[in-house]
Amino acid sequence: MLGRLNHVAIAVPDLAAASAIYRDTLGATVSAPLALPEHGVTVVFIDTGNAKIELLEPLGEGSPIASFLEKNPSGGMHHICYEVDDILAARDRLRETGARVLGDGTPKVGAHGKPVLFLHPKDFSGTLVELEQA
Ligand code: CO
Repeated sequence: MLGRLNHVAIAVPDLAAASAIYRDTLGATVSAPLALPEHGVTVVFIDTGNAKIELLEPLGEGSPIASFLEKNPSGGMHHICYEVDDILAARDRLRETGARVLGDGTPKVGAHGKPVLFLHPKDFSGTLVELEQA
């Protein structure tokens, strides 16, 4: 079921400052910021060749990463995203094994235009897991 690592997402309080560190200190190519109002974040992508890093900054009121940044004011790793061939089959299998799928279990369209689901961090070693349709 589990496919390749798609991205690691890092929540940051200041997207411009975090982008500058990746670009200037680490020498990475950083995409232009993309506002995703339906997800409450603005995101940039950094392609590391075998996967991506996404830097997430809160957008608007009630951003899903706002409370994370209150607990981690300088930012931190927010979630990890794996690809799956069939997201609905993956969801059903996870539910059968007792894992908690967040929300009502209906995939939303994620930052890459593909269906995504999130899994409860307490079921996955304290890490929020995103599944993305490959
Ligand atoms: Co993600």
